[in-house]
Amino acid sequence: MNNSPPRQVPIEDQAQIENIERHPRHIVLAWDDGQRSTFHHIWLRDNCTCDECGDRSGGHRYLELGSIDPDIFPDDVSIDSSGALRIRWHGDSHLTRYSPHWLRMHAYSDQAIVARQPQTVFWDARLNGTIPQWDYEQIITDDSSRLQMFEHIGDYGFAILRGVPTEADQIEQLAAVFGFIRQTHYGRVFELISTPQQRILAQTAHAIRPHNDELFRDPIPGLFMMHCLRASDCGGGASIFVDGFNAALKLKAQNPEYFDLLCRIPIPHRRFLVDEVDDVALAAKWPTIELNSGGKIIAVHINERTMAPLDIDAELVEPVFHALRAMLNLVYDPEACITYGLEAGQAAVLDNHRVLHARNAFNGDRHIRQCHVDRDEFFSRLRALHRRVGSDAQFREYV
Ligand SMILES: [Fe+2]
Repeated sequence: MNNSPPRQVPIEDQAQIENIERHPRHIVLAWDDGQRSTFHHIWLRDNCTCDECGDRSGGHRYLELGSIDPDIFPDDVSIDSSGALRIRWHGDSHLTRYSPHWLRMHAYSDQAIVARQPQTVFWDARLNGTIPQWDYEQIITDDSSRLQMFEHIGDYGFAILRGVPTEADQIEQLAAVFGFIRQTHYGRVFELISTPQQRILAQTAHAIRPHNDELFRDPIPGLFMMHCLRASDCGGGASIFVDGFNAALKLKAQNPEYFDLLCRIPIPHRRFLVDEVDDVALAAKWPTIELNSGGKIIAVHINERTMAPLDIDAELVEPVFHALRAMLNLVYDPEACITYGLEAGQAAVLDNHRVLHARNAFNGDRHIRQCHVDRDEFFSRLRALHRRVGSDAQFREYV
């Protein structure tokens, strides 16, 4: 940002190596705060950050894995006068040096990996009345405030902003804080106002049930943002948000078989509008719940309005319908929903891979502009902000 204050120096983990244990295929570092980290010889050789080898942690690599002996071991391992780990490798006597900070940031013990995971906060209707608002002027001028707001989106899946100017094209500047607008068949920005000849439900004044957006696209748009230019003057039209992760956890507790089915079976979604006006024939398939390799929920994709006819194994048809009904009951449950009446000059930013949105019926006066940006750019900016103004203790891997 041009008008940002001077950038701060990141607060680094200051832990020092106290002791090195040698083992046949790995070393164990004992740190002065009591932690212990195992590093395998091949991992230490592969990650060497010298000018000759490149930098795997930054994605700039010269050394090829195939050129490393899988049974490589060091002739010497020591701590140098600056506290760095120094390794002299057997064979070619290549020298590798790691700062304690680098090793702490890349340690792969269970404890270290858990500490770098997002601190997901699961929520439901009890969050109503305590939803924080972020001041738009502050988040665009102050890196630390913007980092806090980005982390809030990482932890909760959404954020509400206030003080967003109500010029019609302001959403372009708002989106630019988070990433690049993802253009779709609606264009760059979609107008949420009722029109006499509605083609899709969003353009009517009817209530809309909680859903994730655009599941017929690949990739699914990442962050979804709504900028309110004019609230309904007769009431109604409040936005409703639902934590899809919390609903998925509840489903897992209620019925592990349904949860497993929704993690495994891709559900088809479609948006077909092929006529004299449109030429849209979008189709994609996604499991309703997505897990990472550690079994952690990393995405929820559910929208019964855009579900296409199921085309799955015959014996799975009925069980999948039961599982979908159970999940839909959880995301439609009023106890899962927070309600927020966006006022003019307010905006909501949602992670469309986690938070479902809905709205109450309204009288047609409301005017909201909406757009999407992709998540990779948002998380890139979040990590970069951590590098610049965060502390190592706050760092999270949003992958
Ligand atoms: Fe939507």
